[in-house]
Amino acid sequence: MCGIVGYLGKRNALEIILKGLEKLEYRGYDSCGIVVYGEKLILKKTVGMVKDLKELFKEKIKADIGIGHTRWATHGGVTEFNAHPHFDCQKNIFIVHNGIIENYQELKKILVNKGHLFNSETDSEVIAHLIEDFINQGDNFEASVHKTLNLIQGTFALLIFNKNEPNKIIAARFSSPLVLGIGKNEFILASDPLPISLITDRMIFLDDSEMAIVNKEGYEIKSYVNNLKIDKKTVGLDLKVKTTEKEGFKHYMIKEIFEEPIAIENTLRGRILKDKTGTKIRGLEEIYHKLKNLKRIILTGCGTAYYACLYGKYLFEEFLPYIIEAEIASELRYRKINYDQETLVIAISQSGETIDTLEALKEAKNKGAITFGIINVPGSTIARTVDAGMYTYAGPEMAVASTKALISQITALILIMIYLARKNLMKPEEAKNILEELEKIPDKIRYILGQESLIIDLAKNLINYKNFYFLGRKFSLPVALEGALKLKEISYVHSEAYPAGEMKHGPIALIDENFPVFVIAPNDSLYQKTISNLEEIRARKGKVILISDKFPENKIDYLISIPSSLEILYPLLTIPSLHLFAYYFANLLDLSIDRPRNLAKSVTVE
Ligand code: AGP
Ligand code: GLU
Repeated sequence: MCGIVGYLGKRNALEIILKGLEKLEYRGYDSCGIVVYGEKLILKKTVGMVKDLKELFKEKIKADIGIGHTRWATHGGVTEFNAHPHFDCQKNIFIVHNGIIENYQELKKILVNKGHLFNSETDSEVIAHLIEDFINQGDNFEASVHKTLNLIQGTFALLIFNKNEPNKIIAARFSSPLVLGIGKNEFILASDPLPISLITDRMIFLDDSEMAIVNKEGYEIKSYVNNLKIDKKTVGLDLKVKTTEKEGFKHYMIKEIFEEPIAIENTLRGRILKDKTGTKIRGLEEIYHKLKNLKRIILTGCGTAYYACLYGKYLFEEFLPYIIEAEIASELRYRKINYDQETLVIAISQSGETIDTLEALKEAKNKGAITFGIINVPGSTIARTVDAGMYTYAGPEMAVASTKALISQITALILIMIYLARKNLMKPEEAKNILEELEKIPDKIRYILGQESLIIDLAKNLINYKNFYFLGRKFSLPVALEGALKLKEISYVHSEAYPAGEMKHGPIALIDENFPVFVIAPNDSLYQKTISNLEEIRARKGKVILISDKFPENKIDYLISIPSSLEILYPLLTIPSLHLFAYYFANLLDLSIDRPRNLAKSVTVE
């Protein structure tokens, strides 16, 4: 998803903004641009990467204020003209925008009829011309921005610069994230905390309907609805935040796969009782008094986070006396659900900014549900929206393809299940049995990661295939879904996941010798059933890759062996194998693994 960075202060604005945009590259984008102001105003934009933008600034530029943008196109093609910053007719007002202006067409029509000339096809450009139009009608800059913000509909994180008031940046936010970093007589604004560390460790998260007027002397935050001043508390940026460099790995993705064991250890830290007969989760303790009449739990998320929800559904059903649902967030928000105080909605999100998940959550909360978050990015919007939550502490996940975050989400769900189950019928020794095995999982994953050469060989053997199935039952179904998504999102080959039992209801029609099938069948209660599905595939010459800790008599083409564990913990062992396979398959194709085409790390548009 797009990134925005603004700077004003004593340093070189161009350098700071370029570095800030580089720290946001992991969010995914297709074009970028910057405007800076010093001795003169310089605007540069390009299709492509920040490194290409840097090339356009040949000469050293003295500028102490500017705004920059990495664009993930929603309205208007990927062209230089559609790249941000956008500007008004007089090239006085410059804006960068993350989000979608839903009523831009009607606004654009009014502005064109008034004689405004547009330079792009984007929705965002209307903002610059609206501000210009209000100024033309006699309003000052701030009032013009204020009126514009109350006219546009949709989602936005916005930075606005006016050449006629060159010591000021106005920022505003509705739904798309925006952070203000507070230095000594210098300020930085960005889409997330990573660029803030360039100048400071103090920051403020803007909330919906808030605008910030920032100049070198200071800042003021107000509601753009009632124009009242708002006192916001500053929060500390954890500058010890795990390094966001690759640390010798070729890609962030493989680094983050190798961090999966420590991600589990970080999620567990401080949350298991000393005698291991239960768990302690501060967020749940805070709201437990509201859960006395709990009847239903709805887990919701998108993409890989939704697969964690699906795992959680099977897990909670196994041990808890409630109705459990798992729903894709972009679907949940449109279902007619009678939320009430007996419903707990758990939102799972690595970034904490996914707008589909945020909107589903807000809908549930507004209708009376109790809400809880399992989030990786501290201070993110979803983390600040839920009634309570828990951070997974997996560390920054920079690759667009989510890996260690999923492992930490599953770990968090197990901790939550034990917390709630011990409030119900789970015996201490049952909890202890699960937790003692859970604590062994990081080393078991390290064992699997140590076998990566076998996975690399498997990737080499399968590199010429263009279609794959991934099959699993119950706890292995979300694993199959994750395996299929990872492979398709970084190597662009077609891969689909199905409940193993579904094959005979249609999908098996595609099976022949050109259609490899991953069968995730650990030695659990459904092992035999799934192995029989494997037989159906082999009978039709399908190539079978079995992931298991039990070696079947049936002849298979490839085996990815994993250590044994408890049924509910097997996904923590089968998923890393599939992450490794997807990575090495894409690596053989030499693709842009950390920033796959068309994808964004945090989807903040609907
Ligand atoms: C997963 O590899 C994808 N990048 C994508 O499906 C992602 O999981 C989804 O967009 C949800 O993101 P979130 O966890 O930050 O909410
Ligand atoms: N909707 C705007 C555009 O398409 C902004 C997209 C983004 O968030 O990067 O330019």
